[in-house]
Amino acid sequence: MITASLRAESGTVHVAWPEGLTADYPYLWLRDNCPSGFHPQTQEREFDLLSVPETIAPRNLEIEGETLTISWTNDNHVSRFDTTWLKAHRPGTQRPDPAAVPAEPWRGDLAAASLPRMSADDMLTRDNALLDWLNALKRTGIAMVTELADDQEAGLTAARRIGHLRETNFGLTFNVVSKPNPNNLAYTAHRLPLHTDLANQELPPGFQFLHCLANDAEGGGSLFADGYAIAEDLKAQDREAYDILATTKIPFRFHDRESDIRKHDTVIRLGAGGTVEEIRFNAHLADILDLPAAAMRDFYRAYRAFMALSRQERYIVSFALGSGEMIAFDNRRVLHGRDAFDPATGRRHLHGCYVDRGDLDSRIRVLSRT
Ligand code: OGA
Ligand code: ZN
Repeated sequence: MITASLRAESGTVHVAWPEGLTADYPYLWLRDNCPSGFHPQTQEREFDLLSVPETIAPRNLEIEGETLTISWTNDNHVSRFDTTWLKAHRPGTQRPDPAAVPAEPWRGDLAAASLPRMSADDMLTRDNALLDWLNALKRTGIAMVTELADDQEAGLTAARRIGHLRETNFGLTFNVVSKPNPNNLAYTAHRLPLHTDLANQELPPGFQFLHCLANDAEGGGSLFADGYAIAEDLKAQDREAYDILATTKIPFRFHDRESDIRKHDTVIRLGAGGTVEEIRFNAHLADILDLPAAAMRDFYRAYRAFMALSRQERYIVSFALGSGEMIAFDNRRVLHGRDAFDPATGRRHLHGCYVDRGDLDSRIRVLSRT
């Protein structure tokens, strides 16, 4: 039998389940989460927390079967809780999250052929296959879509299957071609060393999609490296450099005729548990370093150590994208770059867009419902 009792000294309701599990629910938490306070359709909270005193307390408790009924002293309200719901929401327990897929760092031995991949057709029509592919993309941070139609819409349709496109100063989508008067090194035929895009933004875009429409020029191969793996190895080899990159905010800037977008941030961003959550690394958008002179030596040493690792073959996966392929990668984790190409020898055209991490996570959660 499930039992519930008041613990006035701690201001909690103590619930005990027959299998030995117990939990203590603060009074105000119970009142705040009374099911009657949520809109029946939207399930959003309508209850106004300030409509009750902070010291609200139960007048009476009753357990009948699977229902805990609480009558409250202060506002004469009666709350009914399903004990299974209470068990799932024990204080200190986070809601299970299907999108919390642990990252699995990889190095240069990740074979291009073994990247998670799915056809554009499957992506559009098979929910389960899309969910598997999204989970794989979360784990490795990079995955391929194949057999896209030879038009710019095809890549966008595929990306929109995952989430809303993130518009930036380069537009809702962007064409990576060598063009006259470029406002960005990507729009030249130059080599692009490994980087993350839009490091100058307050929130750099999460996932990047590059749909290859043509790649017939000499050169132009793609390079990728897992920034998480580089950070992990740097931490093991040179803890001081790692700590400097995780704590020193440096300036990033993009500016052209229309915009001047700046952000100071760290190269490595750590989450609450000390895990690496984001890499912000872009030598061409790094603004003039504005640290005090005394801090520069140590910073440069640390920054160069990260940069030097990113050049090591042991981290780099390289392959040429073929037309009809679209590479997707976590732009806040995976560094990408390309070899120089010779526009005189053929056409090279990638069409790109971004979808933020939160949108992709939402798709994983919705697809996981069924
Ligand atoms: C970019 C970029 C890669 C490529 O547009 O930011 O990195 O292969 N392009 O051209
Ligand atoms: Zn880029």
